[in-house]
Amino acid sequence: MEKLLTREEIAEAVARIGQAISRDFAGQSVVLVGVLKGACLFLSDLARQIELNATFDFIAVRSYGTKKQSGGEVQLIKDVTTPLRDQNVVLVEDILDTGLTLTFLRKHLQAHHPRAFKIAALLDKPSRRVAPVEADYVGFRIPDRFVVGYGLDHAERFRNLPDICVLEEEGQE
Ligand code: IMP
Ligand code: MG
Repeated sequence: MEKLLTREEIAEAVARIGQAISRDFAGQSVVLVGVLKGACLFLSDLARQIELNATFDFIAVRSYGTKKQSGGEVQLIKDVTTPLRDQNVVLVEDILDTGLTLTFLRKHLQAHHPRAFKIAALLDKPSRRVAPVEADYVGFRIPDRFVVGYGLDHAERFRNLPDICVLEEEGQE
């Protein structure tokens, strides 16, 4: 598979985002909320680059649609268990694509009345946006290619690849 981003490039971007979060919330604590399962690897590396008092939680959603295309419908399958009221919440997501997932999660989490709410997305495919949502921290803006690795899957495979690779086209799905 063609490598789009190497593990070294990913590590640099994750460190840069960690420094930005550490600077923006200096002297405060943050709650990192990872979107399962894709953001797992990103969250675990990012957490180690944040020099603040940080706790984690996880949330999971399912979006209907075909394997490579998310549909309009987003459903919560696992909620956070940490009280988020008056906390500095950073939602950690693998990729911002159409924006439907993050639009849903932003509304859901903002209903908990956090003190601050920020979005960290390792990857951003701006050309695919359907819903108006942007991340506050972005690792890379990438073209409209389907990528796997470093947490990102295709039908649950390839999450464990250390680099981010372009999945070859297998026809329309
Ligand atoms: P959105 O709701 O369209 O923004 O989709 C976000 C979700 O779609 C991500 O959490 C991924 O699970 C999935 N996704 C979008 N693009 C890709 C990709 O290129 N590779 C793997 N998963 C993707
Ligand atoms: Mg995902």
